[in-house]
Amino acid sequence: MPKPVILCIDDDHTIVDSLRIQLKKSLNQDYFIETAESGTEALEVVTELLEDKHTIPLVICDYTMPDITGDKLLHKIHDLSPRTRKIMLTGQANLEGVAYAIQYANLYRYMSKPWETADLILTVQEALSRYWQDEKLIQQNQQLTKMNQTLEKLNGEQAYLIEKLQEKEKILTTTQVQLIQQEKMSSLGQLVAGVAHEINNPISSITGNLFYIKNYCSDLLALFQLYQKNYPDPISEIRDYIEEIDLDYISEDLPELIHSMQQGAKLLEHISSSMRIFSRSDYKQQKVKFDVNKGLDSTLSILKNRIKGTPKRPEILITQNLCENASISCFPSQINQVFMNLLANAIDAFDERNQNKTSGEYTASQDEILISTALHPDTSLLEIRIKDNAGGMSEEVQQKALEYLFTTKPLGKGTGIGLSIVKQIIEDNHHGHLSFVSNLGEGTEFIITLPIHADS
Ligand SMILES: Nc1ncnc2c1ncn2[C@@H]1O[C@H](COP(=O)(O)OP(=O)(O)O)[C@@H](O)[C@H]1O
Ligand SMILES: [Mg+2]
Repeated sequence: MPKPVILCIDDDHTIVDSLRIQLKKSLNQDYFIETAESGTEALEVVTELLEDKHTIPLVICDYTMPDITGDKLLHKIHDLSPRTRKIMLTGQANLEGVAYAIQYANLYRYMSKPWETADLILTVQEALSRYWQDEKLIQQNQQLTKMNQTLEKLNGEQAYLIEKLQEKEKILTTTQVQLIQQEKMSSLGQLVAGVAHEINNPISSITGNLFYIKNYCSDLLALFQLYQKNYPDPISEIRDYIEEIDLDYISEDLPELIHSMQQGAKLLEHISSSMRIFSRSDYKQQKVKFDVNKGLDSTLSILKNRIKGTPKRPEILITQNLCENASISCFPSQINQVFMNLLANAIDAFDERNQNKTSGEYTASQDEILISTALHPDTSLLEIRIKDNAGGMSEEVQQKALEYLFTTKPLGKGTGIGLSIVKQIIEDNHHGHLSFVSNLGEGTEFIITLPIHADS
């Protein structure tokens, strides 16, 4: 580090010399004393010193010089080296020059010529010690700023790490939901598909044979009528038996029985096909065209038993307002799972609301689920709404309803994963959107939008 420099400027070289001697004596070897005898020379010296990385703690400058006055020169030096302390020597009190130097050059002191040596030395020492104090402060400030920056950086890094951690945690949770969902779906799907497959043959045998039974019965009844026509007077044993079995009633009732059995078999067929549609095993495979209305229908069939009235509540009215051809490309069993979860939640809510009611109370209002689908070809979106009047959710429950593992239901009844699975299937797996509106005391409406085409 080069020695700090004190610069003395005066056009009178005897003054410059005496300044140099006095300063050298009192300041030991700590400073290098430079001199200049004109404004131009002084500026040259300052520029050179700064270029050589010298610090200039102090400049002592005469006021009256041929090429420039002291105040103006100090102004220029101040522009080059603002922190340098400046002392001006004035022949006669030149207040205007002093005021100028204070304003533009941050003048530290002015002294009248001729000066008292002790006075000068004291002033110089004071100026120097002020200079070093300031330098120290500046350095400390710089260190503080640096430390602050480091701290800020650290804080930023910490925030970044926390954010990363939260992200990782979310991914983990999502993967967990996905695993459970896949596990549940594949075991449930396999079970349902297995049952549907097993009952398929007996159902076919019933429907197929009923057709023949119907024909045989009508043949046999016709045969009896033929007998009755041609042998109107049978022996008493036959007459008694005809009476005993009430043949007239049988002939009337049998066709009706068979008809009702055929209806029942048709229903069985529908349930079996619903189960097969519902459990389509499409996990991790390609999206396929699927009529969402059919999915809703098969899900409702499977939930029929829960929709029916119970001693504790009336049958739930299902009102459907479905568009034509709600075909979208999707994973059908996942979409069915969404319907299942949403409808099951609505039914749960009805059950809970009616729990403590008497039959007289519950008939007062009709429990109802409204289901609608609407195609929007202009936006390539299908909108599905499932609305219930089961009493809705409080603000607090609404905030958390979609969260993984959040449930308000008792242990063993609720798992708290239904809605998080719904959200994942709709938004992550199908790039759709899930939202809901709920009013406490009224009901809840879930609104799903799904892209019609897989790539959009
Ligand atoms: N249709 C609805 N009406 C009222 N509350 C609902 C409805 N659907 C969901 N909820 C609330 O959201 C919570 C979370 O639902 P879900 O994720 O399916 O888990 P679970 O049904 O196992 O509790 C439910 O416990 C319930 O409080
Ligand atoms: Mg649920």
